[in-house]
Amino acid sequence: MKKKILVTSALPYVNNVPHLGTMVCILSADVYTRFLRLNPEIESCSVLGTDEHGTTTETIAKELGMTPQEAVDHFFKIHKEVYEWFNCDFDCFGRTTSPENIEITQNIFTRLKENGFIKENEIEQFYDQEAKKFLSDRFIEGTCPHCKYEEARGDQCESCGKLLNPTELTNPKSKLSGSKPIIKKTKHLFIQLDKLQPKLEQFVEKRANYWSDNALTTTNAWLKEGLRERAITRDLKWGIPVPEKGYEDKVFYVWFDAPIGYIAITKANRKDWKEWWHNPENVKLVQFMGKDNTPFHTILFPASLIGSKDNYTLLDTISVNEYMNYENLKFSKSRGIGVFGDNAKETGIPADAWRYYIIMNRPETADTRFMWKDFQEKINHELVGNIGNLVNRTLTFIKKFCDGKIKEIKKPLIYEEEIKEIINSYEQIELKKAIKTIMNLSKKGNQYFQENEPWKLIKENPQRAHNTLAVLINLIKDLSILLQPIMPLTSEAIKKQLNATYEFNLESLNTKIENHKIGEPDVLFKKLEEKQVTEFQEKYSGKQQKTEEKNKISEKTLSSIDLRLAKIIAVEKHPEADKLYIEKLDCGNGEERTIVSGLVGHYTEEELIGKNIILVYNLKPAKLRGILSQGMLLASSQGKKVGLLEIPDGKPGDKITFNGIEMKTAKEISIEEFFSITIQSKENGIFAEDKELQTNKKIKVDKNLIGKIK
Ligand code: MF3
Ligand code: ZN
Repeated sequence: MKKKILVTSALPYVNNVPHLGTMVCILSADVYTRFLRLNPEIESCSVLGTDEHGTTTETIAKELGMTPQEAVDHFFKIHKEVYEWFNCDFDCFGRTTSPENIEITQNIFTRLKENGFIKENEIEQFYDQEAKKFLSDRFIEGTCPHCKYEEARGDQCESCGKLLNPTELTNPKSKLSGSKPIIKKTKHLFIQLDKLQPKLEQFVEKRANYWSDNALTTTNAWLKEGLRERAITRDLKWGIPVPEKGYEDKVFYVWFDAPIGYIAITKANRKDWKEWWHNPENVKLVQFMGKDNTPFHTILFPASLIGSKDNYTLLDTISVNEYMNYENLKFSKSRGIGVFGDNAKETGIPADAWRYYIIMNRPETADTRFMWKDFQEKINHELVGNIGNLVNRTLTFIKKFCDGKIKEIKKPLIYEEEIKEIINSYEQIELKKAIKTIMNLSKKGNQYFQENEPWKLIKENPQRAHNTLAVLINLIKDLSILLQPIMPLTSEAIKKQLNATYEFNLESLNTKIENHKIGEPDVLFKKLEEKQVTEFQEKYSGKQQKTEEKNKISEKTLSSIDLRLAKIIAVEKHPEADKLYIEKLDCGNGEERTIVSGLVGHYTEEELIGKNIILVYNLKPAKLRGILSQGMLLASSQGKKVGLLEIPDGKPGDKITFNGIEMKTAKEISIEEFFSITIQSKENGIFAEDKELQTNKKIKVDKNLIGKIK
């Protein structure tokens, strides 16, 4: 019977676009599974999918104006496309919102309850009376009792970093409605981890010899502290329903149903799912995840499975990765910082190069960084300069000087040790070491070429030249097999250029290609040019997005401004202020308004009367030295000079817009909002950013001033 190995990758939350950091775990699992497939004695099954429940999904959906279902459908599609683009090849792929997951999650809960591991507790929780919702800690804001920071979150103060309980905040406020939350009693279901502790200890002990240090440390810390009961229900609408009376408005906690998703996804994909998940004797379960996921996989998930007493397959090997950051910044899709799954594709750099880079920089023991300069270096010196060079120079040489033919190997090159080491590294999931050793072996090939100088030998000692070339072709074949889990398309391309028929498996390492005609040599990788690097660095630095965002904001502000033509029909001096006039305006449609403006010294009363000016019609009225000003007129300034914006041929009530952007809401705007956009008179018109002030008649800047509009 074949050895069965079941592989899972942590299911990414589907409320975002995956970035390179997200790909680390998924690619690691994919590479490992592809390696297992090279071994004909192993039967493997790999599982990936999306984690779709939880508060964040509800929040994101709201932000996007979608229902949670629409939001997860939207992002699921993006995730799937990204994984496909990266050539991830999982045997099972699915979603935690599937009917299978609802069924298995509810079943495991029921079994836990039957076996006495579920308890109901009444707890006190903040409740938002306006939004009619219980609030999770993150939805409460208030003043930090330690540092007095006013926007501290219920679970942690971002200013001083202290962990908090929401009840410790002074002035707690609900983030949902802004109202003051009340404390209300509510019931939740808890899994009694304390009761399961002895069984969990046994489970961990059995594996202590082969779990990584970081996984073991985290897990043991939990066990040492003593496990406590943990709530597995939440006050949310979005999630798996709890099959209990009184829980109609609650759902299961996302971390309860997400790992069960592995089982459900397998069930949805294959009939023989029980042979994987109800077969602990014969299946080895290998789970890949980011470091923050550890206790959920070593404590909570196994506890659920053990407590169900249904003979589930439990975690054997855990592979925990740290994080991959972006340059010196934090990945942020909203700010356009970093390379995201969808960006990788648009760069035109092939998926295999990304896979290579990510595995080469896999954060195995510490965080790493994606750096464009480093990526360029690896593409140009390692992919092009090492493996690409070896394949290309060997094949073109054979094509040119040997009519594309190789003979038999008389004297082999020995590299058994390297092969052993590579296979061993893959088995131990030391993927970085595996790829490094492969690249060293490729380097050995280049040295062998160099030292044997086939370009000389082909004339002086053709037999030795032919041996050299046959050796190299076989080394290239072996490399293509060993590389295949990491760069599957490159391996295919090499095989095609070799025109050989071997299978990608470990047995093919023992076969030989001899007396054979090769195919057409072709370039495997292209160099990444300096100017591309500069372009990408700029493009994904978040700068571009900033200007785009600024434009968007100003467009939003512009659409909230109501500008209208008004005629000055009377002017008098402000009794209380030297610099101010009080003007009476005809605003059209029989409406008259009074405004106050600082034009004394720039215009006389007589000059002002009869002028058609532009009025900010929906500006919030404000008292200026005791007189209510119902709007503001626009003028340009240059140095100390002030010139009115005028529309001599227009009539009161005419609308003025920026590039025809219609006013959307008939709301008042504040003076701060109005001045948040910069309006300027230029030679060729009046502009806010790139939007021109327009109306059906010509707008004139009195005194032809060029400068800011106030
Ligand atoms: N969605 C989680 C994250 O992205 C991982 C869930 S792993 C699973 O951190 F086990 F719950 F599936
Ligand atoms: Zn604080």
